[in-house]
Amino acid sequence: MADILNNKRKRIAIFASGNGSNLQAIIDYSKNNDINGDVVFVLSNNADAFALKRARNSNIDTECIPYNMNSSRIEFDGKISQAIKNKNIDLICLAGYMLLLSPDFIDEYKNKIINIHPSLLPSFKGLHGIRDAFDYGVKVTGVTVHFVDRELDNGPIILQEPVLIREGETAEELEGNIHEVEHKLYPRAVGYFCRDELKIIDRKVLIIERS
Ligand code: GRF
Repeated sequence: MADILNNKRKRIAIFASGNGSNLQAIIDYSKNNDINGDVVFVLSNNADAFALKRARNSNIDTECIPYNMNSSRIEFDGKISQAIKNKNIDLICLAGYMLLLSPDFIDEYKNKIINIHPSLLPSFKGLHGIRDAFDYGVKVTGVTVHFVDRELDNGPIILQEPVLIREGETAEELEGNIHEVEHKLYPRAVGYFCRDELKIIDRKVLIIERS
């Protein structure tokens, strides 16, 4: 992880499979704040993803690389890797990307891939973080932004924020509250990365704000 200031503006890619509300939050924040980075590429595995539409509306290059069960994983990774290299990407943000990245791809972009997860990790890993926390009956859940390593929802944690679950609240209301927090937390984490303000020691992420 860079711990010396590297002033080069970061080129950000966002991987998204669905609605893309987090993608939108990062795009908007990067346009309105000086985060030393720009979203230059959006990749999806789903041609119908609303995320792709959002990217096109902001004149951001997009590509859809669907995962074809008949083609090999190596071939699929090769296509993604090539797309990332062609665009000179410094940071990959996963934002509701529904495919698992392969260990080789993760190793290739070590400490350059971050993810947002809708729970306070390490609780409620997996696809249904909001629903699982709600069904479990916890009183506090939240949002985590973390680096991606080979294990699911496991890498070093950059930011976390709690979200209270009040009595009588529905799962839908909780979902809305979680998304509201996500849309603030993810752009902040991206800003730290782009300004070279993150340093990983063991699995602890230090935030060294420069101004
Ligand atoms: C978010 O809840 C995020 O935490 C999870 O997937 C969801 C994506 O939502 N990883 P959106 O597509 O950004 O609206």
